[in-house]
Amino acid sequence: MKKINFKFSHSSVDYYFDTKFSALRTLVDKRNAVVITDENVFSSHTSKFKGWNTIVLKSGEETKVQATVDGIVKHLISIEADRQTVLVGVGGGVITDITGYVGSVYMRGINFGFVPTSLLAMVDASIGGKNGIDVGVFKNLVGVVRQPSFLLYDINFLTTLPSQEWANGFAEVIKHACIKDATMFNFLEKHDGVSIQKNREKLTGIIKKNAVLKSRAVQRDEFEKGERRLLNFGHTLGHALENQYEISHGQAISIGMCYASIVSQKLTGFKDAQKVIALLTKYNLPVDLEFDMNEVFDVLKMDKKKSGGEINYIVLEKIGKGSVRRLPFRQLKKLLNDS
Ligand SMILES: NC(=O)c1ccc[n+]([C@@H]2O[C@H](COP(=O)([O-])OP(=O)(O)OC[C@H]3O[C@@H](n4cnc5c(N)ncnc54)[C@H](O)[C@@H]3O)[C@@H](O)[C@H]2O)c1
Repeated sequence: MKKINFKFSHSSVDYYFDTKFSALRTLVDKRNAVVITDENVFSSHTSKFKGWNTIVLKSGEETKVQATVDGIVKHLISIEADRQTVLVGVGGGVITDITGYVGSVYMRGINFGFVPTSLLAMVDASIGGKNGIDVGVFKNLVGVVRQPSFLLYDINFLTTLPSQEWANGFAEVIKHACIKDATMFNFLEKHDGVSIQKNREKLTGIIKKNAVLKSRAVQRDEFEKGERRLLNFGHTLGHALENQYEISHGQAISIGMCYASIVSQKLTGFKDAQKVIALLTKYNLPVDLEFDMNEVFDVLKMDKKKSGGEINYIVLEKIGKGSVRRLPFRQLKKLLNDS
């Protein structure tokens, strides 16, 4: 099994691309492992979990809360899980975020690894060590930065991914293209979601490219002092919309990216906002939503990227080049209102 290793500041992560779930038994001892998944992944792939000690959570963002953490911790105590125990999150971003969080706090931290099963988790959520939970409408407000020991990719999981979830994954792929990779942006313009989905080689290629792109950005700035901030393109408004309007993460950041592209026209002279909007539309993502700017700003003011009445907002200078602008909330509100 081919392994790529990425070193981060306190640990390193082994990536196993284009492999099979069955290889998990070569990475962790079944007797020490506790697999965490959700009901959709479990019901679609039940036979894969045979022989693994498995916790099955309800699916959906509502699960990413402290009550679920408490439930998992109680279960771990009941089976006398100790520091030799390894947690394996098998699922989308909700499962990887929560598994990483429990793994980081149980007994002050035990080993954990991920098998991402949604496109979004494969290209983004499982990578980079951010683990955490939501508190009410505040997304990922409580959490830690701690890297998994391994990431195992089996694209066969994607055969059961609903079409809306494919679109959500492409939202993060388009984000990466916008901030860092004009060549990938062109590739995405020439293709569409279905043609990539149906072509194993292209799909594997795009997943690996995005996983490596994010990993490199995190490697250079694990604790988000500079470059990693670019990965928040579309997320400032997106996160504020996500829980308030009960839309998915991918849909929310798609709308956030449209607004950020239009704001970029004014702040950097960015010329291709319509290209970004057209690409998101092509990949079946929403590009607008009716929302109450005051309500959204009440949530946005608790964004983790804020300090002293200002926020780091990500803009585009050109396709493939994002940058950070520090903006007072008042100015950002006006810019968004005018968009
Ligand atoms: N930690 C990070 O750096 C980071 C980055 C981006 C997003 N996130 C988080 O990730 C979450 C979004 O990720 P997501 O879209 O994967 O969410 P998710 O885990 O809710 O998965 C989306 C849906 O797809 C289903 N699903 C997943 N894999 C499937 C499969 N193979 N077959 C059938 N159904 C499947 C799930 O049951 C769920 O209903 C959000 O909570 C977001 O905050 C975290």
